[in-house]
Amino acid sequence: MTKPVITQKEPYAVQLEADKNYAWCACGLSKNQPFCDGAHKETDFKPVIFQVEEAKTAYLCGCKMTGNGPMCDGTHKNI
Ligand code: FES
Repeated sequence: MTKPVITQKEPYAVQLEADKNYAWCACGLSKNQPFCDGAHKETDFKPVIFQVEEAKTAYLCGCKMTGNGPMCDGTHKNI
């Protein structure tokens, strides 16, 4: 598997808590999108671990092609 699976061509809007560790799924195989569930183990992909400084709604990449993981950067509009 060299390319991630596109789970959806739009971001996931998720409510995040401040200073909590999150793991964004980069491979697209997780059944718990947009978060990692360990399904990447058989691939070369790794989740992106991140935090936010304040509680907010974030738009996490669903196409897995973002250049600004885990956040959506609009790349899905071109695929
Ligand atoms: S399941 Fe996709 S990165 Fe972990």
